[in-house]
Amino acid sequence: MTLIAIESSCDETSVAVVRDGTVLSNQVATQIQMHAEYGGVVPELASREHLKNLPHVAAEALRQAGVKVGDLDAVAATRGPGLPSALLIGYNAAQALAFVLEKPFIGVNHHEAHLYSPWIGGDPVRADWEGFVPSVSLIVSGGHTMLVHVEGILRHRLLGSTIDDAAGECFDKIAKLMGLPYPGGPKLDQLAERGNPAAYEFPAPLIHDPSHDFSFSGLKTSVRYFLRDRPGLLDDTGALCDVCASVRAAIVRVLVTKTMRAARQLKVSCVTASGGVTCNIALRRQLAAACQKEGLQLRLAVPSLCTDNAGMIAVLAEYKLNSRAGSETWLDEDILPGWHLG
Ligand code: KG4
Ligand code: ZN
Repeated sequence: MTLIAIESSCDETSVAVVRDGTVLSNQVATQIQMHAEYGGVVPELASREHLKNLPHVAAEALRQAGVKVGDLDAVAATRGPGLPSALLIGYNAAQALAFVLEKPFIGVNHHEAHLYSPWIGGDPVRADWEGFVPSVSLIVSGGHTMLVHVEGILRHRLLGSTIDDAAGECFDKIAKLMGLPYPGGPKLDQLAERGNPAAYEFPAPLIHDPSHDFSFSGLKTSVRYFLRDRPGLLDDTGALCDVCASVRAAIVRVLVTKTMRAARQLKVSCVTASGGVTCNIALRRQLAAACQKEGLQLRLAVPSLCTDNAGMIAVLAEYKLNSRAGSETWLDEDILPGWHLG
């Protein structure tokens, strides 16, 4: 099957082409520079940018894949969750394409696509559905932090999620408090590499709580007061790097501790992680160390598939159309901006 997928849930316009599990192309146009001026994503600007970028991104994805529109067997798009006006652009374009081609259409859950992105990799990049189950899967992005029990492919159950800020949001908001450019997560991560993670002690919220839920807004508040009480501290590069390293250590400690505890409780053989924050160097390192210590397999999404991309949407869409009768979405079905995983 040759399938095209469109992702436009937030500030990345992405189009991918997949054929029989192999990702032939995965084009991403990011709007980060534009939103950086405002310190966060402006929904109206995001949708207008999707409208402008989509034809070019789609043309390039088809060109790179060596596929003509007439070769397509199916069309997919992100249906939710996400910014309503942004979702509508990619979803409606995909519906129109499916209508004209008279091919099946499927709307995909963005988090479910993140969840299964660790099963995609290699060279050429392709889906490999063998192994890595049962697993405890951590999804850490700008909008969500979740732990999921994956008993088999497409057999999953949400264990817990954040009750306030997501991990990526916490990285970004703290970076903003420190005067780092948006999105601050990657920048804070780089500076943290040069700092001492034990220099300052920040709270690790809910780390001892027996639930699988997360909370990060208290950490952000504690950093706000910490900086308020030490004006000028960040003018010193060494101190700046130490604060970054200490903040990162607190966030990563919570993520790794809770993931490993869930893995032990559920007696799984594997841990996976996906979403933008999975690019974090300390998170990758510490999950690797913890899994090695406990004799668990670890499968991290490859960095190019951690942040938002249509490749993960395409692979999941193709798997669903192939494996589940009735998984198509009717062309008159709406987007689902608040679509929960489950
Ligand atoms: O998955 P994603 O592209 O978008 C959502 O679905 O939300 O994740 C974006 C998030 C942003 O908050 C960004 O700061 C964070 O991932 N992120 C990082 C790193 N790279 C991206 N956070 C910490 N360290 C990183 N290296
Ligand atoms: Zn995402």
